[in-house]
Amino acid sequence: MSQAFEVTKAELLAQPRTWLVTGCAGFIGSNLLETLLGLNQKVVGLDNFATGHRRNLDEVKGQVSPAQWANFHFIEGDIRDLETCRTAVKGVDYVLHQAALGSVPRSLNDPITSNAVNVSGFLNMLVAARDEGVKAFVFAASSSTYGDHPDLPKVEHKIGNPLSPYAITKLVDELYAKIFAQSYGFKSIGLRYFNVFGKRQDPNGAYAAVIPKWTAAMIHQQDITVNGDGETSRDFCFVENVVQANILAATHMPESGFEVYNVAYHAQTTLNTLFGYIRDGLAANGVVYTKSPIYADFRKGDVRHSFADINKAKSHLGYEPAFSITQGLAKAMPWYIQFLK
Ligand SMILES: NC(=O)c1ccc[n+]([C@@H]2O[C@H](COP(=O)([O-])OP(=O)(O)OC[C@H]3O[C@@H](n4cnc5c(N)ncnc54)[C@H](O)[C@@H]3O)[C@@H](O)[C@H]2O)c1
Repeated sequence: MSQAFEVTKAELLAQPRTWLVTGCAGFIGSNLLETLLGLNQKVVGLDNFATGHRRNLDEVKGQVSPAQWANFHFIEGDIRDLETCRTAVKGVDYVLHQAALGSVPRSLNDPITSNAVNVSGFLNMLVAARDEGVKAFVFAASSSTYGDHPDLPKVEHKIGNPLSPYAITKLVDELYAKIFAQSYGFKSIGLRYFNVFGKRQDPNGAYAAVIPKWTAAMIHQQDITVNGDGETSRDFCFVENVVQANILAATHMPESGFEVYNVAYHAQTTLNTLFGYIRDGLAANGVVYTKSPIYADFRKGDVRHSFADINKAKSHLGYEPAFSITQGLAKAMPWYIQFLK
């Protein structure tokens, strides 16, 4: 358990703040929204439903009390529009900037739109937040920034060359944030998420992430294709760990002006192992899947191994991930079964 997180939650309950969650209708954003409203915080949400869904907001509404829901103000809008960003940050203490177009393949298919949202939209948010004088700006960075650097586990200061347009956009965000600290004294934190999973992660569409995609395929008794030999590995991180890291980051802005932190669980899991974990997690909920995976070509732009050193977030922020991959899957599986039935 993170002592720092318990203390921070108690402080927030005692003195509620106003937060802006961009991308609040998405997977991670809606989980942040649920926790913040549950802590009686005021939350402004901004989303254009590019990849997020109204149903995610409706679900959060069902998880909090009517009084807590009344603390939420939603703005449907696009971060590519500076005025929209300025409106969204008005009177806000803490910004958790999640809105972006995720997925390496999406960015390979349409690099222009990924750049417009992830770089120009990011810059709009940074300018708007700086001009409003918010207390903290925390943004979703990415483990893809490690690119082709061979070292494992990944430590924050050793990055390689990006392997996709998506990775470039997330690296550029970090560079802008650093320059804003140096040039304007505007403080921020980038959280390099490592393969996040949990409830409300979209299982549908061409760009679905591996855990929701395989979970849906198993529930529907469909074939599962593994890209490559299945020995590709990732440090899968349950979304509640990511929520903890965001709240701690917002309340621990760095003296240095800008820092990046790995946000992961610190366990290396191959795709072959993951296949077994999901199958077993579903079996524990009465869904039996007996097919074997089909192996296909490796996917362009994917890194082979990803595994995080999380000591920096532990020592600076007091981050202690509370859920392992199997504990996270155990929490997520009933949601997927309910959602997909
Ligand atoms: N899920 C992961 O494993 C992972 C890993 C590393 C980084 N990230 C980053 O975390 C953030 C959240 O990702 P997620 O997995 O929740 O994805 P998601 O697609 O579920 O959420 C992104 C949200 O941003 C919104 N959005 C997109 N473009 C927008 C725009 N122009 N204006 C306003 N809103 C816009 C979408 O509608 C969506 O609700 C992203 O920045 C992503 O790059 C995610």
